[in-house]
Amino acid sequence: MEKVQSYIASHKDQFLKELFELLRIPSVSADSKYKDDVQKAADFISKNLIAAGAEKVEICQTKGHPIVYGEKIIDASLPTVLVYGHYDVQPADPLDLWHSPPFEPVIKDEKIYARGSCDDKGQVFMHMKAFESMMKNQALSCNVKFLIEGEEEVGSVNLGDFVRNNKARLKADVILISDTSMIANDVPSITVGLRGLSYVEVEVTGPNRDLHSGVYGGAVANPIQVLCEMIAATKDENNHITIPGFYDDVVEISAEERAEMAKAPFSLEDYKKDLQINDVHGESGFTTNERTSIRPSFELNGIWGGYIGEGAKTVLPSKAFAKISMRLVPNQTSDKITALFQKHFESIAPKSVKVKVTPHHGGEPVVTPTDSIAYKAASAAMETTFGKKPIPTREGGSIPIVALFERELGLKSVLLGFGLNSDDIHSPNEHYGIFNFMKGIETIPYFFRNYAELMKK
Ligand code: BES
Ligand code: MN
Ligand code: MN
Repeated sequence: MEKVQSYIASHKDQFLKELFELLRIPSVSADSKYKDDVQKAADFISKNLIAAGAEKVEICQTKGHPIVYGEKIIDASLPTVLVYGHYDVQPADPLDLWHSPPFEPVIKDEKIYARGSCDDKGQVFMHMKAFESMMKNQALSCNVKFLIEGEEEVGSVNLGDFVRNNKARLKADVILISDTSMIANDVPSITVGLRGLSYVEVEVTGPNRDLHSGVYGGAVANPIQVLCEMIAATKDENNHITIPGFYDDVVEISAEERAEMAKAPFSLEDYKKDLQINDVHGESGFTTNERTSIRPSFELNGIWGGYIGEGAKTVLPSKAFAKISMRLVPNQTSDKITALFQKHFESIAPKSVKVKVTPHHGGEPVVTPTDSIAYKAASAAMETTFGKKPIPTREGGSIPIVALFERELGLKSVLLGFGLNSDDIHSPNEHYGIFNFMKGIETIPYFFRNYAELMKK
């Protein structure tokens, strides 16, 4: 292990240089304008995996963006770790809020600024470099399979079919993923829960055309007003979601477990200060951390309609729109929640408008075990590199493929993320600490060593 760690230390500049190359490719999966760049990122990943020592590397085309597969089987009797990550990124908009261009990575205050630096290029690249470091020093202790996709940020729409059609190829003992956060650089944690997602778009139509707001105003339903009222009616005074049946399948967490969760260090003052808000907001009876982990949520992601150009235009618009995300917790399911939402919105709409609900992608929530061999291997690995035992935490974000891996491959995942919530993923000025990048590369080989050892017993 010493050789591996000294290889990592001496290759820091090289690793960063290669990561920068990857970050320069604008692999935005949501925007078809970047289709060629997404392919370029897949090419880069595949070449880099080959150089690191991976075999059977293949760029697998899908109906959407490609999936990169690669493996190194050293001994069929050893356990196999399937590493999953994504090389696609979120759109960089709004561009004018970036302090430096999103696809021209720069280092400032020991942090790498670029779209995808943390989510997830920086984190998936840690695995590739940890693998290289183990390979170059004959220290790989498990078989490895890499599955690195280009559609995570658009709901992993084609990965499900790939997994179903490649069960033998993906056979493994555990899945290892770095695409989540830790509590702080001096408070390591391992993610043991992710929320699911129902994403819907709503279109409210009033009159068949935009009308003069004086000639018709007051006598015809305004779809923007109606949409706002419907949205407002979807939470009560306790910020409880009013969709009938919404909470039916929510697993209530025991008082003991909540008390345990509350032990994780958290400063509400720092949280508010970071966001420049005077107060937090959410469901009564739950703490901030509980609101983003063990409780579901209902958020507007966008709302539009009518005239938003310069100056004033007196118009009673024909249509209004909203995009809404609902985050789900065990045992809610995205199909059921989407159906309940649709029924609710259709039932509360006044007769004066028509409502159309279009479901987008969804994903199921997951909770991963803390008593598994893989969790223990990850925990001990972090304890070695951070000098502190990591705290298990449940997070608010979603990685829909994790539940699908469990269902289709029967495999649990270990969510060994090294990001921070303050890394501004999906936001302007996304960044990733060099400390975090290097700590990840250092920690992963310990996971492999520990996992192989613990699996022997
Ligand atoms: N890596 C994130 C998810 C995440 C971030 C989990 C931080 C925990 C902590 C992932 O890339 C992501 O953004 N997922 C999407 C879901 C998807 C269906 C678009 C999300 O959570 O919005
Ligand atoms: Mn991600
Ligand atoms: Mn993301």
